[in-house]
Amino acid sequence: MKKIDSKEFNFTRREFQMGALAAGLLAALPSWARAGEAKSTSGAESLRAHAAARGLLYGIAVNPALLDVEGVANGRSGDGYTRLIREQANIMVAENAMKWEALRPSASVFDFTLADRLMRFAGLTGQLVRGHNLCWHADNPDWLKTEATKDNARLLLTQHIEAVAGRYRGRLHSWDVVNEAILGKDGRPDHLRKSLWVELIGPEYIDLAFQTAARVDPQVKLTYNDYDIELDTPEHKEKREHVLQLLRGMKARGVPIHALGVQSHIGTDPDQKYTGLVELIRACGQMGLEVYLTEMDLNTAKIPGGNDAQDAAVAQTCRNYLGAVLAEPNVKAALTWGIDYSMSWLNKAKFDWATRPDGALLRCLPFDDDHQPLPAFFAIREALDRAPAHRA
Ligand code: G3I
Repeated sequence: MKKIDSKEFNFTRREFQMGALAAGLLAALPSWARAGEAKSTSGAESLRAHAAARGLLYGIAVNPALLDVEGVANGRSGDGYTRLIREQANIMVAENAMKWEALRPSASVFDFTLADRLMRFAGLTGQLVRGHNLCWHADNPDWLKTEATKDNARLLLTQHIEAVAGRYRGRLHSWDVVNEAILGKDGRPDHLRKSLWVELIGPEYIDLAFQTAARVDPQVKLTYNDYDIELDTPEHKEKREHVLQLLRGMKARGVPIHALGVQSHIGTDPDQKYTGLVELIRACGQMGLEVYLTEMDLNTAKIPGGNDAQDAAVAQTCRNYLGAVLAEPNVKAALTWGIDYSMSWLNKAKFDWATRPDGALLRCLPFDDDHQPLPAFFAIREALDRAPAHRA
C-alpha cells in the first residue's frame, strides 16, 4: 500500500473551515440519512440481511404467478416485484397457491403449477418457503363441500396431506397444518369453529392433520396458525386462552406440533402493549414451541389524515409490536402478508372494516405501489436490529 507522507495533509485554512461545516451539517441529518447506505433498502440494508444478522427470518406472502422464475433461471434479477421479493425475504409463503382451492380443481385432479413455481423460484434464489395451509374451514373447493361425508372425510383429509406435504417433503421450513380452528362464538364447549372438518370428523381432525403431516414429512415444522390473539382486549384474551388450551391438549396427547403462527392482522392503536400476546408466546416457549408472525399487515382504516398520517401510524405500530414480540427468544420469524400495500387483500376485497372514509388505500405494508420503501420498512428494519440475537 502506498505510504502517504505528512505534507499531503496540509489543508488550507479555507479547506479546513469547509470540512468543519460539512461535518456539522452531517451530524444534524436524521439517522438514516447520515450514513448514506442506511437509506438504502437492498443488499446489506435489506430486511432479509438485517433479519439474518439477528438469526431471524423476515418473510413475505407472494403470488407465484407474478414471480419472474424464467428470468431468474436465466441469470436476470427480475422485474420490480421479483426483485423486491428476492431482495427482502429470507422466507416466502404462497398467499393462495398452496390452499385446497388452488390445488384441488376436482377430487381426482391436483394442480401444483403455482406451488411448484414458488418452490422452483425459492430453489433458484436460496430462499425458504413455508406452506399455507393443509386444513382450513375456508377456501375449500365446491366439490369438497358436496362430496365429503362422515364416512370419507378422514380419508379425504389424509390423502390431501399425503399428496401435498409428500410432494414437498424435506423442502419446506414449516407448514400451517391447521388454520383458524378456534372460534368461541360458535358455541362449542371445546371452542372449535363449526367447520366442515369438525362436523364430519369431530375435534380429532386437528390431531389427525398434524399426525399425518408429521408422518409424511418428519423434517418440516408443524404450525397451528390463527388470528385475533394479538391485542390486550377481552375478545383476544379469551381467544388466546382457547388457543393455549388447544396447544396444551395437543402436547399432552403427544401430537407432533412445533410452532404457533400468530397471523398479526392488526390495527394501529398506539396504546397497545401486546402484554397478553407476550404471555402466550412465553407459554408456548415453556412447551417448547416456536412462534412465527405469519401474516402481518396494519389496518389503517380508522387513521384520520392523509398518507403521512397512515405511514406514521403503521411505522409506530411496527416498532411497538415487533419490539414487544421479537424480544422473545422463541419468536423466530416475521412475515408480512404481501410487500406492496396496493396488492394487499385489505385493499382488494373492499371490506367495510378496511375501507377509509377518504377512499384511500390502506398503506398497510412496507413498500408502496412504486416499490419505494415506506416508513414501515425502516421501522421493521430497526425492530429487527433491536431484537436479541436468535438462533435461527
Ligand atoms: O384468482 C381469482 C380470479 O381469477 C377471480 O377473477 C377473482 C374474483 O373471483 O378471484 C380470484 O381469487 C381470489 C384470490 O384471493 C386471489 O385474489 C379469491 O376469490 C379470494 O377468495 C382470495 O382471497 C384470499 C383469502 O385468503 C381467501 O383464500 C386472499 O387473497 C388472501 O390474502 C387471504 O389470506 C388469508 C389467509 O390465507 C389466512 N389468514 C387470513 C388471510 C386474510 O383473509
